[in-house]
Amino acid sequence: MIKAVELTDGIFRISANIGSRDLFEGIWPIPNGVSLNSYIVRGDKTALIDMVKDWEGAVDEITVQLKSLQIQLEDIDFLVLNHMEPDHTGWLAELRRRNPAIRILCSKKAVPLVKAFYGIEDNVQAVGTGDTLDLGGRKLVFVDTPNIHWPETMMTFEPEAGVLFSCDAFGAFGKVGEAVFDDQLSTSQHQFFERETLRYYANIVSAFSPFVERGIKKLENENIRIIAPSHGIIWRENPKKIIGDYLKLASYMNGPAEQEVTLVWSSMYGNTEALLDSVIKGVEAENIPVTVHRVPQEHASFVLASAWKSSGLIIGTPTYEYKMFPPMYAILDILDRSHVYNRKAMRFGSYGWSGGAQKQYDEFSKSLKWDCIGTVEYQGAPTEVARAAGFQMARELAVAVKNWK
Ligand code: FEO
Repeated sequence: MIKAVELTDGIFRISANIGSRDLFEGIWPIPNGVSLNSYIVRGDKTALIDMVKDWEGAVDEITVQLKSLQIQLEDIDFLVLNHMEPDHTGWLAELRRRNPAIRILCSKKAVPLVKAFYGIEDNVQAVGTGDTLDLGGRKLVFVDTPNIHWPETMMTFEPEAGVLFSCDAFGAFGKVGEAVFDDQLSTSQHQFFERETLRYYANIVSAFSPFVERGIKKLENENIRIIAPSHGIIWRENPKKIIGDYLKLASYMNGPAEQEVTLVWSSMYGNTEALLDSVIKGVEAENIPVTVHRVPQEHASFVLASAWKSSGLIIGTPTYEYKMFPPMYAILDILDRSHVYNRKAMRFGSYGWSGGAQKQYDEFSKSLKWDCIGTVEYQGAPTEVARAAGFQMARELAVAVKNWK
């Protein structure tokens, strides 16, 4: 069982770890699980900030932790909902049934969602930037931070201890063990959460990167000493680190990202695959690292994380029934939805009787504002000329990545 953890006098994390059985948001694999964090803030009155859904015993987990703090559900005076996504609100109807007097505070845009998801209209109060909640000896301040990552999202700040309850922002995938705070993690645990922060950001936040930058700007005058997100670890030694990491990830939308190339490829009978080696060698000739993903064998979640941090992209895909090979179409669709904009890119691939993949690649690359170096496309198996062209084009791409500062 997880224990309640005190952040500072009267502020506690209560949390549940979810395993790897389900997909996050019904789409993203979580091979290392994910934590759902809620927070208790105690003044004369008690507030619960964000919640859980009844997912793999999460409700039982946090109920036991509340009891360890001598808090029954009926003792909670206020429920602050920073965000309406059901991983943080799924248990709302049952909580309200068990504690009908609880007052719900959320952003103006969240009010109709509380009704739509849970049929609750009573005792729901809209709050916005600058509004405060007096708990008696302690106050909470609200800040609208729309689209990090839904339109209704906000954050809650406790100014005395400088605790920012940021909900999804500054979060990560991955279960949290006994090391809860950034200063308790080993180097390898930090590396683990850096990887899970990247994949979490690329999968669920990246499309909203301009809002991340705006939200962080809004918070710059607050004296933030602790960042307490609703997924992942708590930052108390160096909260600036995770803010800086999020700003860096947000900047990748406009490029440059990191000086590396993500190569994602599909092949039906090996004729597109046959160019792979030449293309990889072309990138490596410029000493630029290249990460290779094959689809549909690899899940889009991992391809997207890799693509988000790469300044260069190489798409290897054949034509299939006059169009792009469907698994690669699905990948480009995800890259488009996630706004993997402004990359140096190239394509290679084979066709049989007719082309068609290139037309769809051109449409995506236009929508994604990619700077396309070119395409090496051939009928059937690649000739030596095609292999040489693949090497040369990949090398040009690597040079463009290297020179993009
Ligand atoms: Fe963790 Fe957008 O919910």
